[in-house]
Amino acid sequence: MAILKIARMGHPVLSLPAKPVTDPTAPEIRRLVNDMVETMIDANGAGLAAPQVHVPLRLVVFQAPDGRADQSLADEERFDHTAPLTVLINPEIEILAPEKEGGWEGCLSVPGLRGWVERPGHIRYRGLGINGETIERVARGFHARVVQHECDHLEGRLYPSRMEDLSRLIFESEIRHFQTAP
Ligand code: NI
Repeated sequence: MAILKIARMGHPVLSLPAKPVTDPTAPEIRRLVNDMVETMIDANGAGLAAPQVHVPLRLVVFQAPDGRADQSLADEERFDHTAPLTVLINPEIEILAPEKEGGWEGCLSVPGLRGWVERPGHIRYRGLGINGETIERVARGFHARVVQHECDHLEGRLYPSRMEDLSRLIFESEIRHFQTAP
């Protein structure tokens, strides 16, 4: 396994639509996935898309741990809000409810910054897993956000291009000024 170099905003690979993976179970895809997971964990990210490691293929890895879910939710309500470490190949997203929710996002390709992004808060996604199996899930909250953020990378989009108010593009060290006390 290897930690891969992460492309930063401005590198052309982040602006191009990625190509479908033709053989999801090929050894080189498994190697890429293993390296992407190691890279994501090393960089303390919640997700990583293949174009971010200079590979223009439709493949993402992500996780939505319980600690990122809205803690005011009851256990049974929280199910769609979390996801284990997931590999998603050739993903598709269906928006189940158009109402948008705002949330702070960061990106390993935009280091040091955070931005307030409004996105649909209820989606279904489909794709293939690392063994070629079909994955289909409903997602809400942070889970829905991280999947949409990662899939945007496959269309050559970074989260600042989704922002409606660029006064909320800030350094992460300043985020305390935007958070209200509980
Ligand atoms: Ni990102």
